[in-house]
Amino acid sequence: MSADKIQIFDTTLRDGEQAAGSRLGVREKLEIARQLSRLGVDIIEAGFPVSSPKDFEAVELLSREIEGVTICALSRAVAADIEACGKAIAKAKKSRIHTGLGVSDIHIAGKFSDAKYGLTLGKKKVNAIRMAVEAVKLARSFTDSVEFYCEDSGRADPEYLYEMLEAVIDAGATVLNIPDTTGYAIPAEYGNLIKSIGEKVPNIDQAIISVHCHDDLGMAVANSLAGVLNGARQVECTINGVGERAGNAAMEEVVMAIRTRKDFFDVVTDINTKHFYRTSKMVAEMLGFEVAANKAIVGSNAFAHSSGIHVDGFLKKRETYEIMKPEDVGSPKSKVVLTARTGRHGVKHRLEELGYTLSKEELEEIYQRFLVVADKKKEVFDDDLIAIISDQVREVEHVYELEYLHVSCGTGIVPTASVKIKTKDGTIQKATDGDGPVDAAYQAIREATGLDPKIEKYSIRAVTEGKEALGEATVRISNADGKAFLGRGVSTDIIEASAKAYVDAINRMVSAEMLGNEEITLEL
Ligand code: KIV
Ligand code: ZN
Repeated sequence: MSADKIQIFDTTLRDGEQAAGSRLGVREKLEIARQLSRLGVDIIEAGFPVSSPKDFEAVELLSREIEGVTICALSRAVAADIEACGKAIAKAKKSRIHTGLGVSDIHIAGKFSDAKYGLTLGKKKVNAIRMAVEAVKLARSFTDSVEFYCEDSGRADPEYLYEMLEAVIDAGATVLNIPDTTGYAIPAEYGNLIKSIGEKVPNIDQAIISVHCHDDLGMAVANSLAGVLNGARQVECTINGVGERAGNAAMEEVVMAIRTRKDFFDVVTDINTKHFYRTSKMVAEMLGFEVAANKAIVGSNAFAHSSGIHVDGFLKKRETYEIMKPEDVGSPKSKVVLTARTGRHGVKHRLEELGYTLSKEELEEIYQRFLVVADKKKEVFDDDLIAIISDQVREVEHVYELEYLHVSCGTGIVPTASVKIKTKDGTIQKATDGDGPVDAAYQAIREATGLDPKIEKYSIRAVTEGKEALGEATVRISNADGKAFLGRGVSTDIIEASAKAYVDAINRMVSAEMLGNEEITLEL
């Protein structure tokens, strides 16, 4: 027997857009809808037409432009709303109206407080069923696909909910939405509610049950899956889980859970999961909500390994620490994030990927330098590593070694620097001032080495991103004969990088002079 299909009902453009602080333009909605259609969703809830002319326009535009997907419009159980939906979806090849009202006592008492809905809660509840039936009948005059939402089902009296559902199915509703509007439900409880609907609503075979869960307690995805396990065959969700308050169930999480644990759920979706990453980026960008690095499936760390034990296991066998492949969700390939906790194996692996073949001793030296950088930065990037290596492998004889550097500068004070330079004969310490912090450091180095090469060129650049980026300083000096020598220095502190570059250049000059004045390197 083939596995049941779960319909994926996307509400990024409606409930997702209700997230505080976000508003999508009509053109943006069209772009996202095109991407959702590539992704393979079954239904796109395009908006709430009566709420604003822009929402009406968006639903109308998507109805004209998007084919192969059902375009759905939201309404309250109010004639004017439903008529606006009817007009907006008129051009859609496949359309749906999603209408409904609150069914919990809190909603009925609160929203229908006006005496015209009845003087007692009981009367109001009877009236609500009548309004629901009328709404469904009116919606059916525009489209054959009518979904009814029982807002706040998560806190409703189940007996009343069954009564409402039976009535709206009789009136022509084809899909029954059981929203946990306030994100109040617990998975076992919500699962039981869905199951009981399957058992207690006599005409349930004429409709499909949909789940619509909010994330106020962080259980939207778990509740949606509990619903699926108990008979729901449509899941309402949004990309990145965006939506009212804490948001809706994240589509990428629901779908990947179903796919990854097919053994458990035994259902399928038509989603082409390879589009998840791109869709997530597009929605994040257009709604202006960044995706958290640790967000499941689409976060930048979702396939990143950092700690030594994990990196070691992952590099030996991917499955040790990955239950999904990044390519299955269109994410860039798994990466080892180099941090102070990564370990030698991870660093060696990355160096090999970058094309370096190093001896055990070289690797150890690089690793020690890597640790110094990693302690200062959160993440060590490829360019950091390359800079460390070029600094390391280009080393010439260290006639002079910068052992200590202290610079003080600021507004209204003369920059001063003090350095300790180590030589084979001991350590020389000098302190002096200068026109700026780098100039002061260079002056102190000149005094400590007793050398005064001409500085031909000096440059500094950030080799990596972020405020803790590594800076690479390059200095070209020339000796009395006009021969040029290039020095480089790398550090997260640009003054230190500059000083190291200067000492490096001086070492090259001195080494060359010892070797008979051969130039070591000339080009910047
Ligand atoms: O959360 C909710 O109850 C809703 C309905 C309008 C479907 O979004
Ligand atoms: Zn909702």
